[in-house]
Amino acid sequence: MSDLTALEQRAIAELHACGDEAALRQWHTRYFGKQGEVALALKRIAEVPPPDRRSYGQEANRIKEALTAAYEEALRQAKERALNETLHADAVDVTLPGRPVRRGRLHVATQTLRTIASIFTELGFQIYRSREVEDDATNFELLNMPPHHPARDMWDTFYTEVPGVLLRTHTSPGQIHVMREFCPKPIRVILPGMCYRYEAITPRSEIMFHQVEGLAIGRHVTMADLKGTIVAFARRMFGEQRRVRIRSSYFPFTEPSIEVDMDCIVCSGKGCGLCKRMGWLEIMGAGMVHPVVLRNGGYDPDEYSGFAFGMGPQRIAMLQYAIDDIRQFWANDLRFLQQF
Ligand code: PHE
Repeated sequence: MSDLTALEQRAIAELHACGDEAALRQWHTRYFGKQGEVALALKRIAEVPPPDRRSYGQEANRIKEALTAAYEEALRQAKERALNETLHADAVDVTLPGRPVRRGRLHVATQTLRTIASIFTELGFQIYRSREVEDDATNFELLNMPPHHPARDMWDTFYTEVPGVLLRTHTSPGQIHVMREFCPKPIRVILPGMCYRYEAITPRSEIMFHQVEGLAIGRHVTMADLKGTIVAFARRMFGEQRRVRIRSSYFPFTEPSIEVDMDCIVCSGKGCGLCKRMGWLEIMGAGMVHPVVLRNGGYDPDEYSGFAFGMGPQRIAMLQYAIDDIRQFWANDLRFLQQF
């Protein structure tokens, strides 16, 4: 066996023993590098005595071509094997079910607020946003409650460290802001927003809760307008058959002041657990805007009159959905929230 044949056989055997691309490349340097065996065999052509030189040269070149072709094929196969291995290892089972995306929803308090807002916008009211951090003057004094007025006891207040600055206890201070902005134009607005009271947290009372204030001011606004508005609201909110009654009450910023009840949505007035056998549910406080408040807002009480009301949408949602604990609203319990 000639040296060349031995070289070819050894090279082919080693090539087939290469396990991966890196081994193949090492093999290639070993045979085809500058000092590689194939290169050396080619160089040796010149040293072969003339009679054998031609056949040696032909054979050396054939081996060079054959090994090159074998190397390229082996390299191609090694690359394909490596690709198949990674494809297999990183395989994704496209038939597995996906992870479901849970849909969010509006908080029940937001839903109720939006229903109330849409009813009042239908009745021609605009929505007015008013600040939650108030001063004592707007939350109390301008609403006809001078310092030390006993009526302030109705609102236990969170005071800040800045003297005279507090978290509003009701949305009524918004009345002052609206009047001062719109005076002397007629007004029909609702003021929805968060209020804060320094109170014990019980199933019936929270330290933060929404209120929706209503305010209408014009030249001939009467108690009949107030009553008509409330009845229209109650029927849109709770059903066309609803009846409304008003009781005399007291608020420093309205005169006369009333408390509004609606016949019970469960028993329609017969008496049941929800209405505590009364047949009626309380839905809001209201009244005719006090002349002092009108004047503080810039309106002349001899020319203008107005009505105002204030309700708690959480209380309303509690009636609507038979929720028995107001603390649920801000407890962040998904089991509660997902029901709405
Ligand atoms: N601001 C009153 C409260 O928080 C409610 C109210 C508003 C009453 C407007 C009359 C008129 O209790």
